[in-house]
Amino acid sequence: MKKKHEATLSLDDPAQTIHLDTHMDCFSRSFVDISTLFKTHGLCTMDPGLQSTAICQSAITFIDGEKGILRYRGYPIEQLAEKHDFTDVIHLLLYGEIPTQTERNTLRDRLNAASLNTSFQEALQTFSTARPDAHPMGMLLTYAAELSALYEDAFDYHKADDRERAAIHLIAHIPLIAAHIYRQRYTQNKTIPPTSEPQPYAAHFLSLLPPRPNQSDQSAAIHQTFVKALDAILTLHADHEQNASTFSVRAVASTGSNPFACLCAGLAALWGPAHGGANEASLNMLQTIGHEKNIEPFLKRAKDPNDPFRLMGFGHRVYKNEDPRANIMRSICAEVLGVLDKQEDPLFHLAKNLERIAREDPYFIQRKLYPNVDFYSGIVLKAMEIPTQMFTVLFAMARTTGWMAHWLEMTANAYNITRPRQIYIGHPKRTL
Ligand code: CMC
Repeated sequence: MKKKHEATLSLDDPAQTIHLDTHMDCFSRSFVDISTLFKTHGLCTMDPGLQSTAICQSAITFIDGEKGILRYRGYPIEQLAEKHDFTDVIHLLLYGEIPTQTERNTLRDRLNAASLNTSFQEALQTFSTARPDAHPMGMLLTYAAELSALYEDAFDYHKADDRERAAIHLIAHIPLIAAHIYRQRYTQNKTIPPTSEPQPYAAHFLSLLPPRPNQSDQSAAIHQTFVKALDAILTLHADHEQNASTFSVRAVASTGSNPFACLCAGLAALWGPAHGGANEASLNMLQTIGHEKNIEPFLKRAKDPNDPFRLMGFGHRVYKNEDPRANIMRSICAEVLGVLDKQEDPLFHLAKNLERIAREDPYFIQRKLYPNVDFYSGIVLKAMEIPTQMFTVLFAMARTTGWMAHWLEMTANAYNITRPRQIYIGHPKRTL
């Protein structure tokens, strides 16, 4: 809801008082609308890192960082992770509602059909010949760029139906690409077995992977626990409102680029260790710390402003109390290690102790730094024998649905090209 002239901006010159409109979110929180400030008064605002700026209105995901709340389309993340699978979450994020049984079957069939698309299957075989030791996220970016070439004129992005079909294609293709990268990078067995049976998303992805080193003798119960854990991981990572990667997708989409090109922007932003790369960085950090006796020296380094070391998997721009995803992830971790009979897993032990000590430390308390979703996700994926450098690819697989939900929401309405301002501090003018 928009309110006229609700806010006043007073400048040093008392004659210059500017009246600004405000927007209310559905919890009656006010947002001052400065969008016309430059046009009407030649004024700009400064907000590095967009820490106090809403870039859009959205009905997809709600976060209350102070209260540790995360909801997709109004439903708490805890309930979704417990009661629904990722296919339902895809439906919820894209179309706004939990699917009926018929809608669920239709979505599964459509995802399955899109992933069986012959030109895509053929393209997978001929896609780039990346360096054999390339980082899987670099490979994923390459594949995504190739998708934008493959599908450049396959859809008419001015039509809502075509946009929706493109989103489904992308969401269906990502697990195949991720599995392809896994095989290309880590095994000799590069061919993905043909599948025709529609399966739930997480089970489908795991069925595309070759058996991991110690998994040939694993029981059906363990397999089911892995499917459940991966499904929950996908749900927890599916969307997170305006983070760096979703903003990047929206910024690129605002120029009219196709969704496959927007995906590249999202992937590039996600890869960084401050964002989606944190799951890999967090596991590497735990392995480097190695033993409980080393926790104190590493905490000391994390607190030293002159040392670039940070506690990976800790802290969040929005959550200043608790990341609700981290609590669910800690339980999943215990469950997966339990079924593998690895309750005493040294990394899990180390992580829990590190969390306990950091939570009692004034530095972390004062700055409201808590474990985020990626603190425990790496331990779960490691237990499932997923290679560490694949972790962010799995994050990307989940977040593709969120990116597509935002792309569909944005392109359904009128939008402006994203074009921020800057404060120029270079030479005013020079002559050669
Ligand atoms: N370890 C040590 N100190 C930290 C950490 C950390 N992980 N995170 C923040 N701080 C300190 C920071 O040095 C600063 O201290 P001071 O006030 O003395 O200068 C204060 O806390 C505020 O930090 P900030 O950098 O201004 O906070 P931000 O909101 O800009 O950054 C963050 C958020 C997630 C980038 C940051 O907490 C971080 O780098 N964490 C580690 C990486 C990580 O786990 N990222 C995953 C985020 S969750 C997955 C996702 O959704 O992307």
